[in-house]
Amino acid sequence: MIAYFSAPHKESTMMHDAIDRLLERFPSKGKECLIQVLQEVQELEGYLSDQSIRKVSEYLTIPASRIYSIATFYDQFRFTPQGRYHIRICRGTACHVLGSSTILGELEKQLGITAGNTTRSGMFSLEVVSCMGACSLSPVISINGTFYDHVTLAKIRDILLLYRNREEGENGRD
Ligand code: FES
Repeated sequence: MIAYFSAPHKESTMMHDAIDRLLERFPSKGKECLIQVLQEVQELEGYLSDQSIRKVSEYLTIPASRIYSIATFYDQFRFTPQGRYHIRICRGTACHVLGSSTILGELEKQLGITAGNTTRSGMFSLEVVSCMGACSLSPVISINGTFYDHVTLAKIRDILLLYRNREEGENGRD
């Protein structure tokens, strides 16, 4: 499930209830199941919110500060909601050899955020992932599940422009 900014109150209450039900499936407290719980919470909520981490902290009796320090160690966890356009950039070996770190740098520069974050407008979020299974097309990125292959710095600018124009067009039709 993808979480967007400014969730209505009712939706956030439903999310809390869903997280309560999720936690009930983990009768043993403590650290052993922490990673699995966090993975499932993120799957449900789209990211790990402060409120969810507090809930997990209370339920598993692990201090929230400890949960943060463990979760931030793993690239897989995010602490802000995904943007309307979620960009994944591959950091697998084939993509790395063909310049994915330069592509990542360009994305970060163009979006004004670092990987793992979301633009202030909520439009784009950026995630670094391991091999996306399209190594022969390296370097690869995906946006909301659409793959872009053999990306270059110039292509990145064009791709972002495409989404910005699309967003502008949609807002114009409102
Ligand atoms: S390494 Fe990037 S798709 Fe495999």
